[in-house]
Amino acid sequence: MVEEKITVIKSYSEDETVSWGKILGGLLKAGDIVGLRGDLGAGKTCFVKGVADGLGIPEDQYVASPTFTLINEYRGRVTLYHFDLYRIQNEKEIVGLGYEEYLFGNGLVIIEWAEKMLRFLPEEHLLIEIERVNDKKRNFIFTGRGRWYSEIVKHIEERQKYQYSFSNFLSEGG
Ligand SMILES: Nc1ncnc2c1ncn2[C@@H]1O[C@H](COP(=O)(O)OP(=O)(O)OP(=O)(O)O)[C@@H](O)[C@H]1O
Ligand SMILES: [Mg+2]
Repeated sequence: MVEEKITVIKSYSEDETVSWGKILGGLLKAGDIVGLRGDLGAGKTCFVKGVADGLGIPEDQYVASPTFTLINEYRGRVTLYHFDLYRIQNEKEIVGLGYEEYLFGNGLVIIEWAEKMLRFLPEEHLLIEIERVNDKKRNFIFTGRGRWYSEIVKHIEERQKYQYSFSNFLSEGG
């Protein structure tokens, strides 16, 4: 088993989810692979918007749920390939996508409904599961598989610790 690092990040609003996406986008590089899991309306697309921002993708390349296109491409500091596998019914359809070109190309791949193609992903990747706690609150469970992605997850965890201690400092009137 490759090195693995897991952490839970909490978000209390859509804006906060975009901010976490942006932080992650700032850490990632071309060739990276990120899978997203979470029910309808969990916040996957919202998170991808933040990642796109972190990659320096101009806002006019609007990031939406690609309802009919399974793969959207956005150009920034790094090209982002945004997969949305919601409509995929079986593994045969995955094979028909020609996904290898993207996974082993020179852009960053982010996949909504990643569980549908987990078997086709390289062993080393970042997986993010989004749990809907209530209307506004979401838990993001980051799992980094492999050294590079484990480092990314450690970084995200540090950011959250720092954020907590800062908000405690403020609430204590510091
Ligand atoms: N903390 C939060 N983070 C993200 N979205 C939130 C949060 N709280 C509420 N929301 C709302 O949840 C919805 C998330 O929508 P989004 O399209 O990102 O979900 P999705 O997981 O991509 O869904 P789908 O499976 O349909 O593609 C938005 O309407 C957003 O306003
Ligand atoms: Mg979506």
